Amino acid sequence: MLKKARIAVLVSGGGTNLEHLLLAQERGELPHGEIVLVVSGNPSAYALTRAEKHGVPAVCIPKKDTPQEYFEKLLSQKLQDFGVDFLILAGFLSILSENFVKQWPEKILNIHPSLIPSFCGKGFYGLKVHEAALARGVKVTGATVHFVNEIPDGGTILLQKAVEILPGDTPEILQKRVMEQAEWVLLPQAAELLAQRLTQEPASR
Ligand code: GRF
Repeated sequence: MLKKARIAVLVSGGGTNLEHLLLAQERGELPHGEIVLVVSGNPSAYALTRAEKHGVPAVCIPKKDTPQEYFEKLLSQKLQDFGVDFLILAGFLSILSENFVKQWPEKILNIHPSLIPSFCGKGFYGLKVHEAALARGVKVTGATVHFVNEIPDGGTILLQKAVEILPGDTPEILQKRVMEQAEWVLLPQAAELLAQRLTQEPASR
């Protein structure tokens, strides 16, 4: 058996996506990967407490008032110390520089609460995504897990899941449904998919 892919999850807030990754791991649904580190840029992120409750090392690298380059230097050092193979951005609100992203080609996954290319890019975060979907009147939305590339707003799409919009939906109701039906299901699946790819033995010649 090859070694498991070592995963770092980057968070900024509540960490419900992190929670579902950890629960999936505990249910044995992440056989090719292991979450070895949780990093937050925000010292009061509840996600840090969640990580500790699940016995996963959690560190804060304060983002506020730290120059981007220095923040990324500290982050890179941590990732190296923990022997991380790939990263998952689970509600991580800071933008990583092109220089940082270049060092992790097809190794940074992000989850976005819409069906990309709809309602994504600059300014589309949190409730704003769902407000825009409701304002446009689309009948279906969902979530997307994609790789983060150097191209702005770009990256190969790995998995998507659709969610129905129902009469009477508010942005808050829709956000909750997208999380429950798509994000919390999709992110653990994507983590396992990438872990599997990275630990697969190269095809014999
Ligand atoms: C999620 O909606 C995710 O799609 C977005 O940020 C939110 C994070 O929520 N990128 P949580 O911190 O995982 O609860």
